[in-house]
Amino acid sequence: MNKMTIRDIDVAGKKVLVRVDFNVPLDGDRVVDDTRIRAALPTLAYLRERGARVVLASHLGRPKGTVDKRYSLAPVAAYLRDTIGVPVTLAPDSIGPEVESLVRAMEPGEVLLLENTRFYGGEEKNDSQYAAGLARLADVYVNDAFGAAHRAHSSTEGVARLLPAVAGLLMEKELDFLGRALAEPTRPFVAILGGAKVSDKIGVINNLLDKVDRLLIGGGMANTFLKAKGHFLGDSLVEDEVLEMARSLMERAGDALVIPSDAVIADAFDAKADSQVVRADSVPEGWRVLDIGPRSIERFTAELRPAKTVVWNGPMGVFEFPRFAEGTVAIARVLADLDATTIIGGGDSVAAVEQAGVADRISHISTGGGASLEFLEGKTLPGVAALQDR
Ligand code: 3PG
Repeated sequence: MNKMTIRDIDVAGKKVLVRVDFNVPLDGDRVVDDTRIRAALPTLAYLRERGARVVLASHLGRPKGTVDKRYSLAPVAAYLRDTIGVPVTLAPDSIGPEVESLVRAMEPGEVLLLENTRFYGGEEKNDSQYAAGLARLADVYVNDAFGAAHRAHSSTEGVARLLPAVAGLLMEKELDFLGRALAEPTRPFVAILGGAKVSDKIGVINNLLDKVDRLLIGGGMANTFLKAKGHFLGDSLVEDEVLEMARSLMERAGDALVIPSDAVIADAFDAKADSQVVRADSVPEGWRVLDIGPRSIERFTAELRPAKTVVWNGPMGVFEFPRFAEGTVAIARVLADLDATTIIGGGDSVAAVEQAGVADRISHISTGGGASLEFLEGKTLPGVAALQDR
Protein backbone atom coordinates (compact mmCIF):
# COMPACT_ATOMS: atom_id res chain seq x y z
CA MET A 1 0.00 0.00 0.00
CA ASN A 2 1.34 3.42 -0.88
CA LYS A 3 -0.34 5.28 1.99
CA MET A 4 1.17 6.16 5.36
CA THR A 5 -0.22 4.23 8.31
CA ILE A 6 -0.22 4.68 12.07
CA ARG A 7 3.01 2.69 12.11
CA ASP A 8 4.77 5.51 10.25
CA ILE A 9 3.99 8.25 12.78
CA ASP A 10 4.56 9.03 16.43
CA VAL A 11 1.30 8.96 18.31
CA ALA A 12 2.53 9.07 21.91
CA GLY A 13 0.55 11.62 23.90
CA LYS A 14 -1.18 12.89 20.74
CA LYS A 15 -4.88 13.47 20.32
CA VAL A 16 -5.78 11.07 17.52
CA LEU A 17 -9.11 11.29 15.71
CA VAL A 18 -9.90 7.82 14.38
CA ARG A 19 -12.70 7.44 11.83
CA VAL A 20 -14.11 3.96 12.34
CA ASP A 21 -17.07 2.31 10.65
CA PHE A 22 -19.29 1.43 13.59
CA ASN A 23 -22.33 1.42 11.32
CA VAL A 24 -23.41 -1.93 12.75
CA PRO A 25 -26.82 -3.61 12.67
CA LEU A 26 -28.86 -2.96 15.82
CA ASP A 27 -31.98 -4.54 17.21
CA GLY A 28 -33.33 -1.72 19.36
CA ASP A 29 -30.28 -0.92 21.45
CA ARG A 30 -28.61 -4.29 21.04
CA VAL A 31 -25.66 -4.77 18.65
CA VAL A 32 -26.52 -7.83 16.55
CA ASP A 33 -23.31 -8.08 14.53
CA ASP A 34 -20.07 -6.84 16.08
CA THR A 35 -17.76 -7.70 13.16
CA ARG A 36 -16.97 -4.07 12.36
CA ILE A 37 -16.39 -3.19 16.00
CA ARG A 38 -13.97 -6.08 16.50
CA ALA A 39 -12.21 -5.30 13.22
CA ALA A 40 -11.26 -1.87 14.59
CA LEU A 41 -9.76 -3.24 17.81
CA PRO A 42 -6.16 -3.72 16.56
CA THR A 43 -5.90 -0.01 15.69
CA LEU A 44 -7.46 0.94 18.99
CA ALA A 45 -5.07 -1.27 20.95
CA TYR A 46 -2.06 -0.04 18.96
CA LEU A 47 -2.85 3.61 19.69
CA ARG A 48 -3.73 3.10 23.35
CA GLU A 49 -0.60 1.06 24.05
CA ARG A 50 1.44 3.96 22.73
CA GLY A 51 -0.30 6.50 24.92
CA ALA A 52 -2.47 8.21 22.32
CA ARG A 53 -5.67 9.96 23.36
CA VAL A 54 -8.12 8.21 21.08
CA VAL A 55 -11.18 10.06 19.78
CA LEU A 56 -13.42 7.75 17.74
CA ALA A 57 -15.80 9.09 15.09
CA SER A 58 -18.42 7.11 13.17
CA HIS A 59 -21.76 7.37 11.47
CA LEU A 60 -24.62 5.01 12.22
CA GLY A 61 -27.49 4.58 9.80
CA ARG A 62 -28.84 7.45 7.77
CA PRO A 63 -30.37 10.04 10.15
CA LYS A 64 -29.92 12.66 7.42
CA GLY A 65 -28.71 15.57 9.51
CA THR A 66 -31.18 15.33 12.35
CA VAL A 67 -30.50 14.29 15.91
CA ASP A 68 -32.50 11.09 16.16
CA LYS A 69 -31.97 8.95 19.25
CA ARG A 70 -32.58 5.77 17.29
CA TYR A 71 -29.26 6.40 15.59
CA SER A 72 -27.29 7.22 18.71
CA LEU A 73 -23.96 5.44 19.11
CA ALA A 74 -24.83 4.77 22.77
CA PRO A 75 -25.42 1.03 22.16
CA VAL A 76 -22.00 0.80 20.50
CA ALA A 77 -20.33 2.59 23.43
CA ALA A 78 -22.08 0.21 25.83
CA TYR A 79 -21.01 -2.78 23.75
CA LEU A 80 -17.38 -1.65 23.68
CA ARG A 81 -17.43 -1.18 27.44
CA ASP A 82 -19.47 -4.14 28.60
CA THR A 83 -18.83 -6.87 26.05
CA ILE A 84 -15.36 -6.05 24.71
CA GLY A 85 -13.96 -4.40 27.81
CA VAL A 86 -12.71 -1.17 26.26
CA PRO A 87 -13.35 1.67 28.70
CA VAL A 88 -14.94 4.33 26.55
CA THR A 89 -16.89 7.50 27.20
CA LEU A 90 -19.64 8.58 24.80
CA ALA A 91 -19.55 12.28 24.00
CA PRO A 92 -22.93 14.05 23.78
CA ASP A 93 -22.03 15.47 20.34
CA SER A 94 -19.34 15.17 17.69
CA ILE A 95 -18.10 18.77 17.56
CA GLY A 96 -18.33 21.92 19.66
CA PRO A 97 -16.97 23.42 22.89
CA GLU A 98 -18.33 20.70 25.17
CA VAL A 99 -16.66 17.94 23.15
CA GLU A 100 -13.45 19.97 22.92
CA SER A 101 -13.29 20.25 26.68
CA LEU A 102 -13.92 16.50 27.08
CA VAL A 103 -10.97 15.87 24.75
CA ARG A 104 -8.76 18.31 26.66
CA ALA A 105 -9.44 16.35 29.84
CA MET A 106 -8.39 13.00 28.32
CA GLU A 107 -5.39 11.09 29.67
CA PRO A 108 -3.07 9.09 27.41
CA GLY A 109 -4.66 5.74 26.52
CA GLU A 110 -8.20 6.96 27.10
CA VAL A 111 -10.95 6.56 24.52
CA LEU A 112 -13.80 8.94 23.70
CA LEU A 113 -16.50 7.97 21.19
CA LEU A 114 -18.12 10.93 19.45
CA GLU A 115 -21.86 10.88 18.83
CA ASN A 116 -23.10 10.01 15.30
CA THR A 117 -21.43 12.25 12.70
CA ARG A 118 -24.56 12.13 10.54
CA PHE A 119 -26.51 14.08 13.16
CA TYR A 120 -24.96 16.98 11.21
CA GLY A 121 -26.21 17.58 7.68
CA GLY A 122 -22.75 18.93 6.85
CA GLU A 123 -21.17 15.50 7.26
CA GLU A 124 -22.57 13.97 4.07
CA LYS A 125 -22.08 17.23 2.17
CA ASN A 126 -18.40 17.16 3.08
CA ASP A 127 -18.95 20.58 4.60
CA SER A 128 -15.67 22.28 5.48
CA GLN A 129 -17.08 23.89 8.65
CA TYR A 130 -18.06 20.53 10.05
CA ALA A 131 -14.70 19.06 9.02
CA ALA A 132 -12.97 21.95 10.79
CA GLY A 133 -14.99 21.22 13.93
CA LEU A 134 -13.70 17.65 13.87
CA ALA A 135 -10.14 18.73 13.11
CA ARG A 136 -10.14 21.00 16.19
CA LEU A 137 -10.39 17.86 18.33
CA ALA A 138 -7.10 16.28 17.32
CA ASP A 139 -3.46 16.51 16.25
CA VAL A 140 -3.62 13.59 13.85
CA TYR A 141 -6.32 11.89 11.78
CA VAL A 142 -6.51 8.13 11.22
CA ASN A 143 -8.95 6.57 8.79
CA ASP A 144 -9.78 2.99 9.74
CA ALA A 145 -13.26 3.05 8.23
CA PHE A 146 -12.75 1.09 5.03
CA GLY A 147 -16.52 0.46 4.93
CA ALA A 148 -17.15 4.20 4.54
CA ALA A 149 -14.10 5.04 2.41
CA HIS A 150 -16.22 5.30 -0.75
CA ARG A 151 -17.99 8.28 0.81
CA ALA A 152 -16.48 11.76 0.41
CA HIS A 153 -17.83 13.07 3.70
CA SER A 154 -16.40 15.51 6.25
CA SER A 155 -15.29 12.73 8.60
CA THR A 156 -13.83 10.53 5.85
CA GLU A 157 -12.39 13.05 3.40
CA GLY A 158 -12.71 16.69 4.46
CA VAL A 159 -10.98 16.33 7.80
CA ALA A 160 -8.14 14.35 6.19
CA ARG A 161 -7.25 17.54 4.30
CA LEU A 162 -6.94 19.49 7.56
CA LEU A 163 -4.77 17.20 9.70
CA PRO A 164 -1.83 14.86 9.08
CA ALA A 165 -3.83 11.85 7.83
CA VAL A 166 -2.84 8.18 7.81
CA ALA A 167 -4.48 4.77 7.51
CA GLY A 168 -5.37 2.54 10.44
CA LEU A 169 -4.49 -1.14 10.57
CA LEU A 170 -7.89 -2.35 9.32
CA MET A 171 -7.79 0.08 6.40
CA GLU A 172 -4.27 -1.14 5.60
CA LYS A 173 -5.33 -4.80 5.71
CA GLU A 174 -8.35 -4.22 3.48
CA LEU A 175 -6.35 -2.29 0.91
CA ASP A 176 -3.54 -4.84 0.98
CA PHE A 177 -5.80 -7.84 0.36
CA LEU A 178 -8.05 -6.24 -2.23
CA GLY A 179 -5.24 -4.25 -3.83
CA ARG A 180 -2.94 -7.25 -4.23
CA ALA A 181 -5.75 -9.37 -5.68
CA LEU A 182 -6.38 -6.79 -8.39
CA ALA A 183 -2.81 -5.70 -9.07
CA GLU A 184 -0.71 -8.83 -8.68
CA PRO A 185 -2.89 -11.89 -8.11
CA THR A 186 -1.34 -15.31 -7.83
CA ARG A 187 -2.97 -17.17 -10.72
CA PRO A 188 -5.32 -18.70 -11.57
CA PHE A 189 -7.44 -15.76 -10.37
CA VAL A 190 -11.16 -16.53 -10.23
CA ALA A 191 -13.92 -14.09 -9.29
CA ILE A 192 -17.45 -15.09 -8.35
CA LEU A 193 -20.22 -12.55 -8.57
CA GLY A 194 -23.79 -13.02 -7.46
CA GLY A 195 -26.67 -11.11 -5.98
CA ALA A 196 -29.91 -9.94 -7.47
CA LYS A 197 -29.01 -7.22 -9.91
CA VAL A 198 -26.48 -7.14 -12.70
CA SER A 199 -26.96 -3.39 -13.15
CA ASP A 200 -25.23 -2.84 -9.76
CA LYS A 201 -22.22 -4.83 -10.89
CA ILE A 202 -21.55 -3.87 -14.49
CA GLY A 203 -18.63 -1.70 -13.43
CA VAL A 204 -17.16 -4.55 -11.39
CA ILE A 205 -17.57 -7.04 -14.24
CA ASN A 206 -15.95 -4.63 -16.67
CA ASN A 207 -12.97 -4.07 -14.42
CA LEU A 208 -12.54 -7.71 -13.37
CA LEU A 209 -12.75 -9.14 -16.89
CA ASP A 210 -9.38 -7.60 -17.69
CA LYS A 211 -7.79 -9.18 -14.65
CA VAL A 212 -9.32 -12.58 -13.90
CA ASP A 213 -8.78 -15.95 -15.52
CA ARG A 214 -12.41 -16.90 -14.88
CA LEU A 215 -15.49 -14.96 -13.85
CA LEU A 216 -18.30 -17.11 -12.45
CA ILE A 217 -21.74 -15.56 -12.34
CA GLY A 218 -24.63 -16.83 -10.21
CA GLY A 219 -27.55 -15.40 -8.29
CA GLY A 220 -30.38 -13.38 -9.79
CA MET A 221 -27.94 -11.47 -11.96
CA ALA A 222 -27.14 -14.63 -13.94
CA ASN A 223 -30.73 -14.62 -15.25
CA THR A 224 -30.06 -11.56 -17.35
CA PHE A 225 -27.07 -13.28 -18.98
CA LEU A 226 -29.14 -16.43 -19.58
CA LYS A 227 -31.89 -14.38 -21.22
CA ALA A 228 -29.27 -12.54 -23.27
CA LYS A 229 -28.25 -15.98 -24.57
CA GLY A 230 -31.81 -16.46 -25.77
CA HIS A 231 -33.19 -18.60 -22.94
CA PHE A 232 -36.73 -18.23 -21.62
CA LEU A 233 -36.59 -17.54 -17.88
CA GLY A 234 -40.26 -17.87 -16.84
CA ASP A 235 -41.09 -15.46 -14.01
CA SER A 236 -37.45 -15.01 -12.98
CA LEU A 237 -36.03 -11.62 -12.16
CA VAL A 238 -34.46 -10.29 -15.38
CA GLU A 239 -33.21 -6.78 -16.10
CA ASP A 240 -34.30 -6.29 -19.68
CA GLU A 241 -32.73 -2.83 -19.83
CA VAL A 242 -29.22 -4.28 -19.56
CA LEU A 243 -29.67 -7.31 -21.83
CA GLU A 244 -27.63 -5.66 -24.57
CA MET A 245 -24.86 -4.90 -22.10
CA ALA A 246 -24.90 -8.50 -20.87
CA ARG A 247 -24.65 -9.73 -24.44
CA SER A 248 -21.63 -7.58 -25.19
CA LEU A 249 -19.91 -8.56 -21.92
CA MET A 250 -20.33 -12.23 -22.85
CA GLU A 251 -18.96 -11.62 -26.31
CA ARG A 252 -15.96 -9.78 -24.93
CA ALA A 253 -15.29 -12.38 -22.22
CA GLY A 254 -15.63 -15.56 -24.29
CA ASP A 255 -14.75 -18.62 -22.19
CA ALA A 256 -13.65 -16.51 -19.24
CA LEU A 257 -17.25 -15.86 -18.25
CA VAL A 258 -19.11 -18.86 -16.85
CA ILE A 259 -22.86 -18.76 -16.20
CA PRO A 260 -25.11 -21.46 -14.67
CA SER A 261 -26.20 -24.39 -16.83
CA ASP A 262 -29.00 -25.44 -14.49
CA ALA A 263 -31.12 -23.93 -11.76
CA VAL A 264 -33.30 -24.64 -8.77
CA ILE A 265 -36.64 -23.09 -9.63
CA ALA A 266 -39.69 -22.33 -7.50
CA ASP A 267 -43.35 -21.70 -8.29
CA ALA A 268 -43.39 -18.66 -5.95
CA PHE A 269 -40.95 -16.36 -4.20
CA ASP A 270 -41.45 -18.14 -0.91
CA ALA A 271 -39.34 -20.23 1.45
CA LYS A 272 -41.91 -23.02 1.21
CA ALA A 273 -42.59 -22.85 -2.53
CA ASP A 274 -42.56 -26.00 -4.65
CA SER A 275 -39.16 -26.44 -6.23
CA GLN A 276 -37.40 -28.50 -8.87
CA VAL A 277 -34.09 -28.60 -10.73
CA VAL A 278 -34.15 -27.80 -14.44
CA ARG A 279 -31.71 -26.96 -17.20
CA ALA A 280 -31.13 -23.23 -17.43
CA ASP A 281 -32.82 -23.16 -20.84
CA SER A 282 -35.93 -24.93 -19.57
CA VAL A 283 -37.57 -22.71 -16.97
CA PRO A 284 -41.33 -23.14 -17.39
CA GLU A 285 -43.87 -20.32 -17.41
CA GLY A 286 -44.89 -19.37 -13.86
CA TRP A 287 -41.60 -20.54 -12.29
CA ARG A 288 -38.56 -18.53 -11.24
CA VAL A 289 -34.88 -19.27 -10.65
CA LEU A 290 -33.96 -19.07 -6.96
CA ASP A 291 -30.61 -20.88 -6.87
CA ILE A 292 -27.95 -22.39 -9.10
CA GLY A 293 -28.41 -26.12 -9.73
CA PRO A 294 -26.15 -29.13 -8.96
CA ARG A 295 -24.46 -29.16 -12.37
CA SER A 296 -23.58 -25.49 -12.01
CA ILE A 297 -22.21 -26.12 -8.52
CA GLU A 298 -20.06 -28.86 -10.01
CA ARG A 299 -18.80 -26.63 -12.81
CA PHE A 300 -18.10 -23.70 -10.49
CA THR A 301 -16.29 -26.05 -8.10
CA ALA A 302 -14.13 -27.38 -10.93
CA GLU A 303 -13.24 -23.82 -11.96
CA LEU A 304 -12.39 -22.91 -8.36
CA ARG A 305 -10.27 -25.95 -7.46
CA PRO A 306 -7.03 -24.81 -9.15
CA ALA A 307 -7.51 -21.14 -8.17
CA LYS A 308 -4.82 -19.39 -6.16
CA THR A 309 -6.72 -16.13 -5.73
CA VAL A 310 -10.50 -15.90 -5.37
CA VAL A 311 -12.69 -12.85 -4.90
CA TRP A 312 -16.35 -13.44 -4.11
CA ASN A 313 -19.16 -10.91 -3.92
CA GLY A 314 -22.86 -11.79 -3.79
CA PRO A 315 -24.85 -14.97 -3.11
CA MET A 316 -25.69 -17.63 -5.72
CA GLY A 317 -29.38 -17.65 -4.86
CA VAL A 318 -31.98 -16.63 -2.31
CA PHE A 319 -29.96 -18.12 0.52
CA GLU A 320 -32.19 -16.61 3.21
CA PHE A 321 -34.59 -19.45 2.27
CA PRO A 322 -32.82 -22.67 3.39
CA ARG A 323 -34.09 -24.64 0.38
CA PHE A 324 -32.46 -22.19 -1.98
CA ALA A 325 -29.21 -21.78 -0.05
CA GLU A 326 -27.42 -24.84 -1.37
CA GLY A 327 -25.52 -23.12 -4.17
CA THR A 328 -24.29 -20.32 -1.94
CA VAL A 329 -23.33 -22.63 0.91
CA ALA A 330 -21.56 -25.02 -1.49
CA ILE A 331 -19.45 -22.18 -2.89
CA ALA A 332 -18.61 -21.03 0.65
CA ARG A 333 -17.41 -24.54 1.52
CA VAL A 334 -15.33 -24.87 -1.65
CA LEU A 335 -13.62 -21.56 -0.88
CA ALA A 336 -12.88 -22.70 2.68
CA ASP A 337 -11.09 -25.80 1.37
CA LEU A 338 -8.94 -24.04 -1.22
CA ASP A 339 -5.22 -23.55 -0.86
CA ALA A 340 -5.60 -19.98 -2.09
CA THR A 341 -6.03 -16.40 -1.02
CA THR A 342 -9.79 -16.08 -0.63
CA ILE A 343 -11.43 -12.68 -0.27
CA ILE A 344 -15.08 -12.03 0.42
CA GLY A 345 -16.78 -8.68 0.17
CA GLY A 346 -20.39 -7.66 0.47
CA GLY A 347 -22.82 -8.20 3.34
CA ASP A 348 -24.69 -11.15 1.85
CA SER A 349 -21.72 -13.31 0.95
CA VAL A 350 -20.25 -12.60 4.38
CA ALA A 351 -23.51 -13.79 5.97
CA ALA A 352 -23.32 -16.88 3.73
CA VAL A 353 -19.84 -17.93 4.88
CA GLU A 354 -20.98 -17.43 8.44
CA GLN A 355 -24.08 -19.52 7.82
CA ALA A 356 -21.88 -22.23 6.30
CA GLY A 357 -19.66 -22.08 9.39
CA VAL A 358 -16.47 -21.48 7.40
CA ALA A 359 -15.75 -17.80 8.05
CA ASP A 360 -12.53 -18.63 9.91
CA ARG A 361 -11.18 -20.46 6.85
CA ILE A 362 -11.45 -17.45 4.53
CA SER A 363 -8.28 -15.37 4.10
CA HIS A 364 -10.02 -12.02 4.25
CA ILE A 365 -13.62 -11.01 4.88
CA SER A 366 -14.02 -7.37 3.98
CA THR A 367 -15.88 -5.04 6.34
CA GLY A 368 -16.92 -2.94 3.35
CA GLY A 369 -19.97 -3.71 1.23
CA GLY A 370 -20.29 -0.71 -1.08
CA ALA A 371 -16.65 0.21 -0.54
CA SER A 372 -15.31 -3.18 -1.60
CA LEU A 373 -17.52 -3.13 -4.71
CA GLU A 374 -16.25 0.31 -5.70
CA PHE A 375 -12.70 -0.84 -5.10
CA LEU A 376 -13.29 -3.87 -7.34
CA GLU A 377 -14.71 -1.51 -9.94
CA GLY A 378 -11.32 0.16 -9.98
CA LYS A 379 -12.68 3.42 -8.57
CA THR A 380 -10.62 5.65 -6.33
CA LEU A 381 -12.05 5.70 -2.81
CA PRO A 382 -12.10 9.32 -1.59
CA GLY A 383 -11.38 8.31 2.01
CA VAL A 384 -8.21 6.58 0.85
CA ALA A 385 -7.12 9.16 -1.70
CA ALA A 386 -7.11 11.86 1.01
CA LEU A 387 -4.52 10.03 3.14
CA GLN A 388 -0.85 10.92 2.97
CA ASP A 389 1.22 9.10 0.41
CA ARG A 390 4.13 7.13 1.65
C1 3PG B 1 -21.89 0.62 4.94
O1 3PG B 1 -22.59 0.10 5.81
O2 3PG B 1 -21.77 0.14 3.79
C2 3PG B 1 -21.09 1.82 5.30
O3 3PG B 1 -21.08 2.03 6.67
C3 3PG B 1 -21.57 3.04 4.55
O4 3PG B 1 -22.87 3.39 4.94
P1 3PG B 1 -23.76 4.26 3.95
O5 3PG B 1 -24.08 3.39 2.77
O6 3PG B 1 -24.97 4.67 4.74
O7 3PG B 1 -22.93 5.44 3.52
